[in-house]
Amino acid sequence: HKVEKYLEPFRLSLEKLKEVSVRLKKDLIRGLGKHSHHRAAVKMLPTFVRATPDGTEKGDYLALDLGGTNFRVLYVRVVEEQQKVVKMDSKICSIPQEMMLGTGEQLFDHIAQCLGEFLESQDLKGQTLPLGFTFSFPCEQKEIDKSILIRWTKGFSCSGVEGQDVVKLLKEAIHRRGDYDIGSVAMVNDTVGTMMSCGYRDQSCEIGMIIGTGTNACYMEEIKNVKRVEGEDGRMCINTEWGGFGDDGSLKDILTEFDEVVDQTSINPGVHTFEKMISGMYLGEIVRLLLVKMAEDKLLFKGETSEALLTPGQFETKYISEIEEPDSGLENAQKILTALGLNWDPVDACVVRLVCDTISSRSARLCAAALATISNRIRVNRGLDHLKTTVGVDGTVYRKHPNFSEELQAAVRLLAPKCDITFLVSEDGSGKGAAMVTAVAQRIELCQINQYLFFLLTTVTKLL
Ligand code: BGC
Repeated sequence: HKVEKYLEPFRLSLEKLKEVSVRLKKDLIRGLGKHSHHRAAVKMLPTFVRATPDGTEKGDYLALDLGGTNFRVLYVRVVEEQQKVVKMDSKICSIPQEMMLGTGEQLFDHIAQCLGEFLESQDLKGQTLPLGFTFSFPCEQKEIDKSILIRWTKGFSCSGVEGQDVVKLLKEAIHRRGDYDIGSVAMVNDTVGTMMSCGYRDQSCEIGMIIGTGTNACYMEEIKNVKRVEGEDGRMCINTEWGGFGDDGSLKDILTEFDEVVDQTSINPGVHTFEKMISGMYLGEIVRLLLVKMAEDKLLFKGETSEALLTPGQFETKYISEIEEPDSGLENAQKILTALGLNWDPVDACVVRLVCDTISSRSARLCAAALATISNRIRVNRGLDHLKTTVGVDGTVYRKHPNFSEELQAAVRLLAPKCDITFLVSEDGSGKGAAMVTAVAQRIELCQINQYLFFLLTTVTKLL
């Protein structure tokens, strides 16, 4: 009961979630609009991905993946016959914290070096393979191979990259070395990679969603609704960047004092409000702040805190999953509280578990509201009474938390009753998906060349 007072602001009723969904619905339209776009909190970025896989893609590709837990380089083969994407090999390179906050040149030199070492080890230096670059930050894409970073999110803040073309920065770094080269580049957001990697297995996969370090989703929108891109027919994948939802103050009524502190102490105050209530980079911190407050108010740990508990970042998001584990949760809680130097009793452990549960539930339910908004939009776009669709999902929070996915799915069913959504956990969307996007881009390019040749041929024949 006393504890409830602290948790109450985090419990969002179905009614509230419906309100949130209505607000997001308006924001999606604002983001798509030609004139409203530049002020929109939800950016709705065109990705220049116009088709999902049709199963005829094939070839060898390189993939880079920056913006999740690790930086990775991969060599991927897309095999047509078996409808399969095979990961041939990969390498993980750590990006030290100083580099995440250093200069862009250092970052891209490091990426180019890591790629160089990988090519060397695979004996691929002589080839110029096409490359899919999963770059999981908001980018204004001009074409599939021109992508301007709008702003860094999550833990990154390298100087001299915002406002620049990421493909150019990558190529410059590679050319500075001069010992290898790459072929055509396709820029991919991780949500898009996730959608595409699932799309190879399930062709009705038209939404990609990430709930990991950050959160975001993409989906296939009718081109005629994407006012900033020319064209009337067909669809284009839109990277919603829903993490920015609320940056214009539209979520003020559901933000708690703890959310405000998380925002103010982050490296990007004022941006990605929605993401800060949901994703792995922040969930642990929200719990920590709540525990500190409850201890100070003498509701926990006999009114005492500890140095670790008072240190930002010390309560990791993975602890939430461990503490909510159905069988071993309480035991895990006790171990974690001991490791944090806290003087706990069994009641404390139960309260901590309740706090974790409240914070992860809010995250799952907010994601559900956002996903319901998108599915409903697709349904209405197509004039359907009922939509059956698949969403490709990835991210540590969704994968690792014991009941996050169930909670999210249950809430989506209530919020989008006319949509029947299948959830498919993506197998390495950021790696294989990037290769897939590159392969689809090449298939379409080929297809366009063929169409052009056909056109030339028929015109010439007619003339003759
Ligand atoms: C980025 C998105 C990305 C998401 C998930 C967010 O911080 O802005 O581009 O898709 O994280 O990685």
